[in-house]
Amino acid sequence: MSPVLPFAPRRVAIGANAHAEITSWLRERCPDLEIRGARMVDVTQADMDWAEVYIGFRRPPAASTLGAVQWVHCTGAGVDSWLNPEIDRAVLLTRTPESFGPAIAEWAVARVLAFQQQLLEVSRAQAERRWASRDIQSVAGTRALLVGTGDVGSAVARQLAALGIRVTGVSRTGRSDEASFAAVYPVSALPHLVGDADWIVLTLPITPNTRGLFSRDILRRCKGAVLLNAGRGAVVEEAALPDALDAGWLRGAALDVFETEPLPESSPLWGHPAVMISPHISGLTTVAGAGEGFLECLASLEGGQLPSRWVVDRDRGY
Ligand code: GLV
Repeated sequence: MSPVLPFAPRRVAIGANAHAEITSWLRERCPDLEIRGARMVDVTQADMDWAEVYIGFRRPPAASTLGAVQWVHCTGAGVDSWLNPEIDRAVLLTRTPESFGPAIAEWAVARVLAFQQQLLEVSRAQAERRWASRDIQSVAGTRALLVGTGDVGSAVARQLAALGIRVTGVSRTGRSDEASFAAVYPVSALPHLVGDADWIVLTLPITPNTRGLFSRDILRRCKGAVLLNAGRGAVVEEAALPDALDAGWLRGAALDVFETEPLPESSPLWGHPAVMISPHISGLTTVAGAGEGFLECLASLEGGQLPSRWVVDRDRGY
């Protein structure tokens, strides 16, 4: 069910660390909007009872209902927080048009080169004042398997291909329009593909189909790849990662996302010598990106149209 059109909300609640910056960005362009901004954890039920639209990445934990909110505009690429559990289907759910591909591609290139250049070992040797020569090979000619070929996966593909890496894609449909993929296969081919990859890059949303996709079984079929995950932690069976690394199924892992965030201090991944951890920063929402995305959707609604491209397909999960 869609909201009744025309629907042009004026009372906006923002839940984001950068709420003050997003608020002034919007006020400058749309002085007639009434805006209440707070950090997501500080958004109250009263804010939700007042607002017609909520802008934010996740559900504010202090609000038990969406109150008067009829439209949620998610500022992140992944909309899972709004689908698990799913918000009322009468509420319009849009995702930001902001493109996170370029930033996540840089995150991935940095990690691929860090592993290829053995930067973890080189910095350990430096910390110990040890002159330890190493055999460094070019990354050109290695093979990457990109699981997820959407906007983000395609941006990663272009950057890895530019380094001379042969890039294969895996997607729900087994197809992609991105020319940087040497080949694209459906997800069912995954067990046969992981053994040929030097790099496996996950950029998947979390849906019932992707949860646990990188199971212990799949990990066992890897033959020394480095696993990069910039999608969602629960796509990987995280408890199997230490074994996968210790058994050599994986040669390393660069992880930006985890089943539980922040990653608990007790996680064995923190101290593993072949793991690079980053705190969910590979593709950050920008103030202008959040503002422009919201205004693009608002303009459609003001014109009596749903911003169809950005309305979340709830059954698909993104
Ligand atoms: C971050 O993970 C996002 O979904 O934007």
